[in-house]
This record gives sequence, C-alpha cells and structure tokens, in this order.
Amino acid sequence: MSYIEVKHNFKRYQTGDTEILANNDVNFSIEKGELAIILGASGAGKSTILNILGGMDTNTSGDIIIDGKNIANYNKRQLTTYRRNDIGFVFQFYNLIQNLTAKENVELASEIVADSLDPVQTLIDVGLKNRINNFPAELSGGEQQRVAIARAIAKNPKILLCDEPTGALDYQTGKSVLQTIAKMSRENGATVVIVTHNSALAPIADRVIHFHDGQVTKIEQNAQPEDITNIKW
Ligand SMILES: Nc1ncnc2c1ncn2[C@@H]1O[C@H](COP(=O)(O)OP(=O)(O)OP(=O)(O)O)[C@@H](O)[C@H]1O
Ligand SMILES: [Mg+2]
Repeated sequence: MSYIEVKHNFKRYQTGDTEILANNDVNFSIEKGELAIILGASGAGKSTILNILGGMDTNTSGDIIIDGKNIANYNKRQLTTYRRNDIGFVFQFYNLIQNLTAKENVELASEIVADSLDPVQTLIDVGLKNRINNFPAELSGGEQQRVAIARAIAKNPKILLCDEPTGALDYQTGKSVLQTIAKMSRENGATVVIVTHNSALAPIADRVIHFHDGQVTKIEQNAQPEDITNIKW
C-alpha cells in the first residue's frame, strides 16, 4: 500500500442549478518521501484535491488513504488533529495572520508540534533575513508567499502540501524557494506535493500527476529527477 492513496475521489459543487465536478473520479498514489507534482491548467481541480489531502476540505465521495487511514471518514475533530500533527500547508493565497509579524506567523505553526524547525532559520532559508519582524501588510506579495512557505516548513511536517508556491516569485527567488521545499523531501523525508500549472517544473519531481477537467489524465514517474539548478522556465 502506498503512503497516499486517492481512490475514486469526487468533489461536487452545486451553485443554483449548475453542478461543477471539481474532482471527477480522481485516482492516484504517492509513496512516502516522494516529491510529487500535480500539474494542470486553471480550473482543473488541483487546489480542490490538495485541500482534501490536507484535511482543509472534505470530498463528496471516495477514499483518501493516508498512511493506511481513510481520512475521508474522519470527523471534524479528527481532521483538526490530522492537520495539526501531520500537515504543512502552503495556501495559494497565503492566509497569513495580519496582526502577527513574519516570525510570529511562523512560530504559531512551529509551536504546535514537537520536532519543529527553528522559525528564524526557516525565514532565513526562504531569503527573508531582513523581514523577520515585519507584518504581512509591510511585505510584498512574493515576500508574503515566502512567509507562508516558511510557516509550512517550520512544522517539519510528515506531508508538505504546496499550492502554486512560486506563483508570486521571480525566477531566481522561485528556484531558491523550490530548492528549500525539495529539501524537505530529499533530506527531511517528508512527502511533498506541489501543485502548479508550470509544466517546466515536472522534471524535478519523482512523480507527475496530470490533471485536466477534474480528472487525472496521465501519471509519469521520473527515475532520476532533475536538479532544480538544471531546469529553466
Ligand atoms: N467553493 C466553490 N464553489 C463552486 N465551485 C468551485 C468552488 N471551488 C472551486 N470551484 C470550481 O471547481 C473547479 C476546480 O477548482 P480548483 O480551485 O480546484 O482549480 P485549480 O486547478 O486549483 O485552478 P487554479 O490553477 O486557477 O488555481 C473550478 O471550475 C472552480 O470554479
Ligand atoms: Mg488553485
């Protein structure tokens, strides 16, 4: 059995008369410690599946097996515990707490787990050495995105889920942040899932899961993933 197994996952949204199948029978698996990329165009259902994997949202039907347990059957309380103990999540739109500084935002996450990483060091690792005591409103979009990444990483999570983690970053900063994220899989043993619409990132992953219109259209495995320094986009 794989570490993550998604089986016949459906997510249905009903808005008035229209029904949207954001996930329409999604199936894939990811091994422990892998770096996986979910690739697809806008509206393909990528954030939907990532939110479900992270226990941020519940599915309509299907099994979401994480380390042998079906989180699709979890109640709210069990999902909260799961999110708190096992998950680091980088939101597509950051979700920082506005009245806390960068450092305090990261501490808030690291303090709830036992074997967290040093909050200041994680901020330094994402290139924010000089922004540690600034509030989100004082930071650029890309800087806020990096605080969100530091916050997820500082939990030293079993599973790190990143929704478009380089969306607001320039080329060099994006590369450097991707390296920090990849290190969580390659050195810390975390299972990492990155959602992106940028196909140029695919070679860095152990596994690439292609999404189109709420479905998985193709799964590729790279026996020898490319080093991030060698890719271009
Ligand atoms: N709360 C919601 N209510 C209704 N429809 C929704 C809701 N959330 C998402 N959808 C729809 O579900 C589909 C998949 O959305 P999702 O956010 O998963 O796409 P995505 O692949 O992450 O896209 P993007 O790359 O633009 O972030 C879209 O058609 C979207 O409009
Ligand atoms: Mg999205």
